[in-house]
Formats: sequence, structure tokens, C-alpha cells
Amino acid sequence: MINAQHPLRETDTRALIPLSVHTPYVYIHRDAANAMQMLLQKIGAGESIVPVSGYRSKEEQTAIYQNSCRENGKTFTKKYVALPNHSEHQTGLAVDVGLKQEKIDFIRPDFPNNGICRAFRKNAADFGFILRYPKAKESITGIAYEPWHFRYVGHPHAKIIAANGLTLEEYTEFIKQYRENCRLIYSHTASITAEIYYAPAFTDAATLSVSETDIYQVSGNNFDGFIITVWKHT
Ligand code: DAL
Ligand code: ZN
Repeated sequence: MINAQHPLRETDTRALIPLSVHTPYVYIHRDAANAMQMLLQKIGAGESIVPVSGYRSKEEQTAIYQNSCRENGKTFTKKYVALPNHSEHQTGLAVDVGLKQEKIDFIRPDFPNNGICRAFRKNAADFGFILRYPKAKESITGIAYEPWHFRYVGHPHAKIIAANGLTLEEYTEFIKQYRENCRLIYSHTASITAEIYYAPAFTDAATLSVSETDIYQVSGNNFDGFIITVWKHT
């Protein structure tokens, strides 16, 4: 999680790929790119939804912030553009999408809550994406409502976040009630479950114990610990 309080600590560009052949200049993390392609295919988006912005380097985020300050003023910019090193675009896990039109606003692309855009929004969590800056959560995220900005958090976190109407900030706190001996059980299918819990990082070097036979994912929250997801097949 990256926001005004929690800056990006390091940049890893190794997993970035172009989101589609139509937009070779929009790069995102390959897991997010694959999921996005499947989502667009599922809703039959064709070319009606356009990726507008994906990965941004620190320099790009700086230029966007400065240009917007010049053109739109600081009050507007602070609402819609994160400061350099405080943007999830710098991770390659965030993507702005816009409804295809002749002129697409780069900072605030049109993404109405109807038609194909609504279908995208309704299906996003099934493919690991969340609406990162929801309406009425500005005080938590620090960013205004951005219906065009989606963040890849993967399975099954997107489903839990969407089902509970949470922001990533709230989910990061919510998950802390679950620990190794008291896990959140999420039924993915009849035979596959995910067990999720939080492991605090008390020191710089944290030790985690997981079974060798389990499939698991470890994700640092960029703050004070890790979210562990263990997949169980029965
Ligand atoms: N538009 C989002 C907040 C960013 O600049 O990262
Ligand atoms: Zn964005």
C-alpha cells in the first residue's frame, strides 16, 4: 500500500510488460496485464475501454504533478495526483482506464458508471482489481473519487475488499485481526480455500514459518508487516 503516509521504498521494473499491443506505451506488472486482458475479454470491451496510464517512473510522476500544478492549480492537483514516490502508479500495479473517445483527459479520464464501464467495474474484483479511490473515502485515501483508477491486488483480496466496501487502507487494518493461529478463511471454490493472515514485522529481518506443501504468497504491506495468503486444496 502506497499513499501520502507510506511512500514507495524501492522500484522494481523487471515484471513490467505493455498492457496491450494497441497501447505499447502503457506498461504494467505482467500479472496485472494478464488479469486486465481477461477482464476486458470477459465483458467484451473490444477497444471501447482504453488504458490511459499504467507504470510511471518517479520522473514521470514528478512531471505530471508539476504540469498539473501549472495548468490546474495546487488544490486540484493534490486531489487527483499523488506526490512523486507516493503514487501506486510507480509500482506498475495501478492503471487508469478511459472510455474510448476522441479526446481523453490524461488526469481524469471519462469512466462513467454505466454501459461497458459499469460492466468493467462490476467484474473488476473477479480479476483482482479494486477501485482504489472510492467515493466518500477521500478522508481515508487522501485522494478524491477516481472512477478510472484501478489497483491490482490479486486474488482473493480484491473480492474481500469489494464485498466489504473497503479501501486498501481499511483492508490493511482489517486483516490485522487475523493471525497465524486465527486466519481469515475465504472459499474460492468448493475445493480451494485461501487462508489469509497478518504477520507483524517487529524487526528488519522477519521470520515466517509456512508448510513446504502449501502454496503461499507473502506480500509486505509497506508499513508494518506482511499479508500471508495460503492456498489449500481439498
Ligand atoms: N491519481 C493517483 C492518485 C496517482 O497520481 O497516483
Ligand atoms: Zn491513476
